[in-house]
Amino acid sequence: MELDLHEPIKRALAKARQAYESKDLDRAASAYEKAANLMSLYAEQATGREAEQRRKRKSLEYREMAHKLRAGEFAERGDPAAPLPEAKATAPGSSGAIPAGGDIKSIVTNLMVHANVTWEDIGGLDDSKNEIKFALGMTLAQQPDHVKVAAWTKILFYGPPGTGKTLLAAATSNAVRSGEDVPSVFYNVKISSVLSKYFGESSKILSELYGTARDTSPSVVFLDEFESLCGRRDAGDTGAERRILSTLLSELDGMDQKGRPDLYVLTIAATNRPWDLDPAVLSRFEKKILIPLPDAATRERILRIHLERKGYRTAVPYAELADLTNGYSGREIERFCKEVTTGMIEEMNHDIPRLVDQGLDQVRKHRIRVRELNREDFDAAARLIHPQTTAAEMERYVRWKESVQEE
Ligand SMILES: Nc1ncnc2c1ncn2[C@@H]1O[C@H](COP(=O)(O)OP(=O)(O)OP(=O)(O)O)[C@@H](O)[C@H]1O
Ligand SMILES: [Mg+2]
Repeated sequence: MELDLHEPIKRALAKARQAYESKDLDRAASAYEKAANLMSLYAEQATGREAEQRRKRKSLEYREMAHKLRAGEFAERGDPAAPLPEAKATAPGSSGAIPAGGDIKSIVTNLMVHANVTWEDIGGLDDSKNEIKFALGMTLAQQPDHVKVAAWTKILFYGPPGTGKTLLAAATSNAVRSGEDVPSVFYNVKISSVLSKYFGESSKILSELYGTARDTSPSVVFLDEFESLCGRRDAGDTGAERRILSTLLSELDGMDQKGRPDLYVLTIAATNRPWDLDPAVLSRFEKKILIPLPDAATRERILRIHLERKGYRTAVPYAELADLTNGYSGREIERFCKEVTTGMIEEMNHDIPRLVDQGLDQVRKHRIRVRELNREDFDAAARLIHPQTTAAEMERYVRWKESVQEE
């Protein structure tokens, strides 16, 4: 659904300017925050990549304005009537007024996503979800008088491929929103692609990323494929790699965050190879959560998410399907469900290719036929999917978990 956000954004910006002119910097900052949030929703609706990037950049600039206002940067000038930088108050439709802000900035902007994954979209993993919620709650709740509760800012997810690590990170970022209508900001960094594409610049990208994440606080930085960034420092490692590592360590230690207790940037790292991580980095992570292959009860919940919740009916009880998918990861279960349902739909709708030949009108008139899924459907799909993670490999994760707990 396309909402017209143009007007609300314009109104928020007008309000910001008005508040600024009447020296109400706090209200101006809030109005900029609102404009930034609306603009980032607007970015999601963009049909072209260029428009999307332009809007994301504007959103970040509005947020930066809010940040500067709150930090008192404008108040110090003693000239509240000084005009805000022109670009900040332009309407969203106008283009060209906003400087690109350099390549690094736009690379970082491109990493920004808005996740709409919720806890309910993730089957099982109740303990992990709870652990994360505890970490968030303890950090974001009000501190008791005269007691300083330590903040949780670094969580590592490890485990076999396809078990829900990325999903969990996305749901976490969704939970870190400040309100219903405020989209959360989630920086999804696939390390290997950042490393290979911008190798020389990786360290700069990382600093810029954390700077931006602080500007959009509360936010979540998700470092996927973490082992490719923080492999052990043995032979063959280059100056650039060392620089990346030291930048990361200082960001993880929150050097620049010090003195700003109001900011919250949660780093979530994910890896399939925790044993390859540099010990210095590893020791920074206050929580290390194993995301294992799903057990039978979890498989049943995942199957229900991908079948029942999508409206499919099955003649085979879910408990039996959970048995059939023993050893599967969440991703393999999702693929299994897709095989089963598309197989059934193809069988029930042989005439679709012919209708497509006859033109769009004919296709549009056709309503896709479905039927209840049966044992043969599931058996056929199960023959196609071979679990990637063996029991021995799963055992290695459990052993690693025990080894770090003993430390
Ligand atoms: N617990 C789960 N509940 C529902 N769906 C799941 C679950 N785990 C995995 N899936 C499905 O598998 C897909 C892949 O999951 P996800 O990307 O979170 O795995 P991952 O652990 O990050 O894998 P990798 O280590 O390969 O990055 C999801 O998009 C989802 O459809
Ligand atoms: Mg992942």
